[in-house]
Amino acid sequence: MKRLILVSNRLPVSIDRGEDGSYSFTPSVGGVATGLSSFHDTHESRWVGWADVDLEQLTSNERSNVRETLVEEHGCIPLFLSEEEVEGFYHGFSNRTIWPLFHNFTQYAEFDTEMWDAYEHVNRLYADAVLEVARPGDTIWIQDYQLMLLPAMIREKMPEATIGWFLHIPFPSYETFRMLPWRREVLEGLLGADLIGFHTYDYARYFLSSCRRLLGTEDQFSRVMVDDRLVLVDAFPMGIDYDRYRDGAQTKKAIAEAERIGLRTMERKVVLSIDRLDYSKGIPDRLTAFDSFLEKYPEWHNKVTLMCVAVPSRENVERYRDLKAEVDELVGSINGKYATIDWTPIRYLYRSLPFDTLNGMYGASDVALVTPLRDGMNLIAKEYLAAHDGGEGVLVLSEMAGAAKELAEALIVNPFDRDQIVDALHEALIMPEEEQRERNTMMIQRLKRYTVTRWAEDFLERLEEIKLTQVGFGAHLLDEWHRERFVNEYRSAKKRLLMLDYDGTLMSFAPRPEDVAPNQEVCDLLRALGSDPANEVVVISGRDRVTLDAWLGDLPVDIVAEHGVWLKGRSGEWVVIETMSDEWKTILLEIV
Ligand code: G6P
Repeated sequence: MKRLILVSNRLPVSIDRGEDGSYSFTPSVGGVATGLSSFHDTHESRWVGWADVDLEQLTSNERSNVRETLVEEHGCIPLFLSEEEVEGFYHGFSNRTIWPLFHNFTQYAEFDTEMWDAYEHVNRLYADAVLEVARPGDTIWIQDYQLMLLPAMIREKMPEATIGWFLHIPFPSYETFRMLPWRREVLEGLLGADLIGFHTYDYARYFLSSCRRLLGTEDQFSRVMVDDRLVLVDAFPMGIDYDRYRDGAQTKKAIAEAERIGLRTMERKVVLSIDRLDYSKGIPDRLTAFDSFLEKYPEWHNKVTLMCVAVPSRENVERYRDLKAEVDELVGSINGKYATIDWTPIRYLYRSLPFDTLNGMYGASDVALVTPLRDGMNLIAKEYLAAHDGGEGVLVLSEMAGAAKELAEALIVNPFDRDQIVDALHEALIMPEEEQRERNTMMIQRLKRYTVTRWAEDFLERLEEIKLTQVGFGAHLLDEWHRERFVNEYRSAKKRLLMLDYDGTLMSFAPRPEDVAPNQEVCDLLRALGSDPANEVVVISGRDRVTLDAWLGDLPVDIVAEHGVWLKGRSGEWVVIETMSDEWKTILLEIV
């Protein structure tokens, strides 16, 4: 059985120290961890990642016990990072440079050489940990923006390795990405992978465009040639464990939780807002929109409650602490403005929730208001729909979330357009139940089909495919036996058809394709071959016909230009080989 080595910033197991000093290990339920855990359990796999424990509290004996438990009971290989490493790598470059930049918050992005050095250093530690366990034939799948240098670091030591990398956040457009002082290093690090995956085609296109403009790479159909190695760049929209969320909302515990919180018994409609407390999620904008909604539609006073859950996150980063203060203040001021003795418009929780409580909330909410300013995918939107399983419930979704590409039947809003959110919320609250079911039924069909397991399988299948394609792309030198046979057959043939590609065949590839006019040697060779009456020589290229004509027009060869659209016989005129048929559109339409 092939082994799979998963690498992510965090391990999918959280480690807690009890009062008595003992350690407990709990598998975590975050997006990536949940996404891969089904795979992790059924395949022979190892998971390399950061064991987020307080090293100061850990004796070296305890550290090796923790390691042993993680390895033996969870298949995890832990990295223990010092406080300084965590500061520079995780709080620093990952979350104060890349996170804001990739989410288009350029004003928050800090460019600091020390943080970059820490990022490089810690990526090297991950690479060493992977190289220690990786064996030839293993598949290595690296996750996310914290580990962008890892693919090339591993490739350097294991040139044949099978490496995939997936980004869980957006990839920015070239204009934003180019701001990064270490932009080349990051791209080169990523291109060490064989398959580079994103949530949406837009992110994949932005990445390819950055590679083209910063490194001069060329790509065709999402394939990039990097030092004679083919790299595939593609979109894999991450799904959820559909059944888990559908069933989760129906359990007695979840229903009881919703009742306990007072959601099910309330006469009021419930609007759910739930995120990690992160500025990319647009929580203040959402609260302000709710304020405007109550102002514009006073008929909803006392009839609707916004259940706002903010899960604490990255509290060591100042920006997150500022956001917390801003949200606290906004909630207070809106509640102060509208609350009555028996109605609090916003119920606000700043904590992470147990799974049953979360499911209870999903199931009992009439509307989910998911309005991030920028979000790689957003699984909350998908989980909410699964919890309703095609029944009533309305999703209001930001067009800036990757999920919007798959969930077009939701009420899609521009999160920067407050009026639009206000009206969408009103529309959601008065939407006829039949329409709610119709919209949800269409969306859940997609969610049921492309689950998180399917996502992981799809990625790994494509990774295997690209490895096979690379073999086909490799150069094979003719051995003695084949060479002799080839020459003999050539000599004895009465008529020969020689079809020659241009770039990479007659002339080598070059960074500036316009610089590779045929040299004297190639011209002499083509002239000699073409002058033999037994030979028909055709040069076939994707290049434009004007260039090919200028370069080869005087030689005794036929030319096929622009990928087979134009043909020029050795002394004739250019003709269109075949009018383009558009039959392919019917096939394509079905796939789309
Ligand atoms: C996003 C990232 C993940 C990250 C998660 C939680 O979803 O894509 O890589 O693990 O946020 O953030 P944290 O910094 O707590 O790991």
